[in-house]
Amino acid sequence: MKFFVDTAEIDAIAELNELGMVDGVTTNPSLIKKSGRDILEVTKEICDLVAGPVSAEVTAVEADQMIAEGRKLAKIAENIAVKVPLTWDGLKACKVLTDEGTMVNVTLCFSANQALLAAKAGATFISPFIGRLDDIALDGMDLIEDIRVVYDNYGFETQILAASIRSVNHVLDCARIGADVMTAPPNVIKALASHPLTDKGLATFLDDIKAANIKIL
Ligand code: E4P
Repeated sequence: MKFFVDTAEIDAIAELNELGMVDGVTTNPSLIKKSGRDILEVTKEICDLVAGPVSAEVTAVEADQMIAEGRKLAKIAENIAVKVPLTWDGLKACKVLTDEGTMVNVTLCFSANQALLAAKAGATFISPFIGRLDDIALDGMDLIEDIRVVYDNYGFETQILAASIRSVNHVLDCARIGADVMTAPPNVIKALASHPLTDKGLATFLDDIKAANIKIL
């Protein structure tokens, strides 16, 4: 499963990138707002840092404007994936931009039928939002499972980019189901390394190292 980082914070991306944990980056208008940066500037900086796809979201809601914005975003770098919302206009923009050779990430997906439409419109990525379904007492993971079945039934090449990931359990469940990509905030990716038994075991080893004066260097 590929790991994308869901942030527009350069330092956080760079830290994870050094460890080989970054296969791509996703941003959205809320993350751009949080960064306090200009969208074009910060997106260019991210594209220079990371080799994989970097999702940058359009601001328009009408297809023609989305296409114009998408073309401008695509000029930033070769690894831009233009992010469009899963609306009828977004699907139109998806078709035009993918036909032009631009990667498109169709976002705000909350049903398998929406994912089916995105695949038929040629989307490179479909972003089903797990956490936001959980927030309204539905099971976001059911959506990932349904999309996996539908895409596998028909051999669609659109990649399932599991989004709105809020916990380490979401990451494991996505990997079990076979999501192609998951995008998570840096703190969730870092939390994957934590286990209380690792901490407990290390504390014991450190006590024994001290007691036995074990030295290597
Ligand atoms: C990613 O592409 C999405 O924008 C993001 O994962 C949304 O996460 P949230 O529901 O926690 O805001």
